[in-house]
Amino acid sequence: MQKIAAGNWKMNGLSNSLSEISLLAERHATSDVRILICPPFTVLSKACDLDDRTEIGAQNCHISQSGPHTGEISAQMIAELGATHVIVGHSERRAENGETDAIVLKKSTSVQQEGLTPIVCIGETLDQRENGQTLAIIGAQLDGSLSSEAGKSPIVIAYEPVWAIGTGHVPSMYEIAQVHEFCRCQLKQRFGDTAMSIPLLYGGSVKATNAAEIFALPNVNGALVGGASLKADDFSKIITALEDA
Ligand code: 13P
Repeated sequence: MQKIAAGNWKMNGLSNSLSEISLLAERHATSDVRILICPPFTVLSKACDLDDRTEIGAQNCHISQSGPHTGEISAQMIAELGATHVIVGHSERRAENGETDAIVLKKSTSVQQEGLTPIVCIGETLDQRENGQTLAIIGAQLDGSLSSEAGKSPIVIAYEPVWAIGTGHVPSMYEIAQVHEFCRCQLKQRFGDTAMSIPLLYGGSVKATNAAEIFALPNVNGALVGGASLKADDFSKIITALEDA
């Protein structure tokens, strides 16, 4: 199974942040980990032009490839730049932009149509966890966000509990392992043996201090990291933990 360390820079980073990407590439030149940075759209083109081994992804795309959608960016446009991945259905977009599972499904489909890999984000809120609904929510999101054809092209799933994002709170290792195992079983039921090669990433307050413990869990194939991916010094320690896992 490929190991992936993905950094989601969210609405952070100007041109002068691109040196962080080059630093990562230098430090992990011979790594067996796929290193991916998803910077904001404004520097996506420059990031794609960096001549190094770090892969570059976008944080969102429109459901259509072109048309009258002022201010929007399509998977086709992202593909033209040379990016390899697109994050879809991040909980911040689900909450701030009303993205439903049905929209996430359309986005992940259009990403795959362009030969790019969607990173489909799922995760429960604190209320849902406290009410014992975690697995039901995760199951419904997985079901609703992936088309029946989704397993035929590369795809990545990121489990990001909403309450763990940017808070410093992380589920117990048992809880992470439980959700990841559940995801693997759900994907297997839907896509058969292909599911065994779909990377499952954990996201939500991953830091150098907890990375090794998380990466030691079964069915955790890497991480989708926010704050700790902005600086090469921080992200590099997480990548090293994944190399050692
Ligand atoms: P943090 O690592 O800052 O908690 O963010 C996680 C995240 O939302 C990545 O997509």
